[in-house]
Amino acid sequence: MIEQSLFLIKPNAVMQGHVGHIISMLEDHGFSILKMKLFRFDEELSRIFYAEHIGKEFFNRLQSFMCSGDTVALLLEREDAIHHLRELNGDVLPEKRQPGTIRALYGAGITENGVHSSDSLDSAKREIEVIFGA
Ligand code: CDP
Ligand code: MG
Repeated sequence: MIEQSLFLIKPNAVMQGHVGHIISMLEDHGFSILKMKLFRFDEELSRIFYAEHIGKEFFNRLQSFMCSGDTVALLLEREDAIHHLRELNGDVLPEKRQPGTIRALYGAGITENGVHSSDSLDSAKREIEVIFGA
């Protein structure tokens, strides 16, 4: 099924100059870019975007990281996009990241892991609306 997913290049990867290479990887894997923008999360937007994590021990760390610099957001489309992007990103845990995944290349730890992508069709719909509007 052709799917859409919300993809973020997080502040550590933007600051370190990896935007171009990450977008090349997405294009090489057959993703079409339908929308793209550069912006900065603030406290309110990060609470909305990461609402499912409010109250967890890492939430404040995640929030201050996401607000620490610019983020690049892309609306991506491809066959089976959600699954393929999660595979290309790599695991949230550094020790589980497969070599060659974006997080293995550009993730500095658990929190500063370089990229985000939606984890389901429902999340994608919600996240696309939050970042790009309805
Ligand atoms: O991003 P992903 O869906 O793979 O992981 P998540 O479990 O939904 O967590 C969202 C984000 O919170 C992660 O990408 C990390 O940046 C951060 N996180 C963290 O700082 N510490 C954890 N123990 C788990 C997640
Ligand atoms: Mg998640």
